[in-house]
Amino acid sequence: MSVRTPFYYYDLTLLENTLEEMQAAINNPNFKVHYAIKANAEDRILHTIKKHGLGADCVSGNEIKKALEIGFEPQDIVLAGIGKSDEELELAISQGIHSINCESIEELEVINEIAERHEAIASIAFRINPNVDAQTHHKITTGLNENKFGIPITELDAAVDEILKHKNLALKGIHFHIGSQILNLNPFANLCQQANNVTTSLKARGIVLEHINVGGGLGINYTNPDSQLIPNFVEYFRVFEKFLNLEEGQTVHFELGRSIVGQCGSLVSKVLYVKKGASSNFAIIDAGMTDLIRPALYNAFHKVENISKDGELEPYHVVGPICESSDTFGKTELPKTSRGDFLIIKSAGAYGQVLSSNYNLRDRAAAIYSDDISLENYISSRETVSELLAV
Ligand code: LLP
Repeated sequence: MSVRTPFYYYDLTLLENTLEEMQAAINNPNFKVHYAIKANAEDRILHTIKKHGLGADCVSGNEIKKALEIGFEPQDIVLAGIGKSDEELELAISQGIHSINCESIEELEVINEIAERHEAIASIAFRINPNVDAQTHHKITTGLNENKFGIPITELDAAVDEILKHKNLALKGIHFHIGSQILNLNPFANLCQQANNVTTSLKARGIVLEHINVGGGLGINYTNPDSQLIPNFVEYFRVFEKFLNLEEGQTVHFELGRSIVGQCGSLVSKVLYVKKGASSNFAIIDAGMTDLIRPALYNAFHKVENISKDGELEPYHVVGPICESSDTFGKTELPKTSRGDFLIIKSAGAYGQVLSSNYNLRDRAAAIYSDDISLENYISSRETVSELLAV
């Protein structure tokens, strides 16, 4: 049998089910989810998400172009980003997207200048840094004073003074994003409290917003993915129902990425060698940090399974072929593993394929979908990917 590995395998049924459960968990007509494209920008994933009625949260001009190409309406697209280039702002303004989440007073001036040139009124949301601890990995924490993101609450009044001076800007909303892979929901309750403080002080100045964007961040179960393939969206949305004070007609926007696509993707790889090291047995696989950088970058844990073997478990250190010691998928226990076995690295649908690189001039892993008719390109004998992954 020959299979071209490594490759990303996406379970589209799980993606559909996740989207359905997520939409069913919303019982407020004013709640709207924008999918954070940065988590996974594969066309088929985006088409599926679009079909379920979500909007798009973009962080670059190219993500806006991609969203438009997939068919998202400009009114369903938001742009965030701490360092938007003039070209990216031109694109956002000329397309008339729903809102530009502005991160500094200086940026307001630039947006106004570009909007004036386009004879347009740019819809602005202030991205505010609420100084709320997301209680997650420090590299994916974004809402503390020490983080580079957002306008500090102490600068809010000055930002309002500034925006009122510009005739080509309209303040439509506020935006927050405190971090990612958040499993304890308390930080979201704290965020609501801060959002309420902000809306109260804006109201005191006669400003009532059209929308409040609470960002993304809901985490997934990496440790034991099969026990919870779909995150608890009901509890998540309930926090905002309960703690956010809303005005009549005000909408709440969410920018979920990982919780939607995280569990539907796996990285499938083959064991190249099993080497007896001085302190552990290395299972050397053909996938590396160029395919999935999360373990190297954040010490992230992804469950690894040997789908070719059963039997008693033995300790292995699973590593990739890249010339870096951080190219590891961690120490785990697997059935007796040998050359040619297939190992799958689970929960890799978010921030996996999008973060892959050509380092060492390696090819990037392809994507294969559970309903893919071109599977023969990758699998040339009796085994199909679904057989391969039906474990
Ligand atoms: N909104 C904003 C403004 C963001 O910066 C992000 C993620 C999201 C929404 C979506 O967050 P999510 O729902 O996916 O947590 N590469 C890291 C994650 C970086 C997240 C960056 N921003 C990882 O692999 O864990």
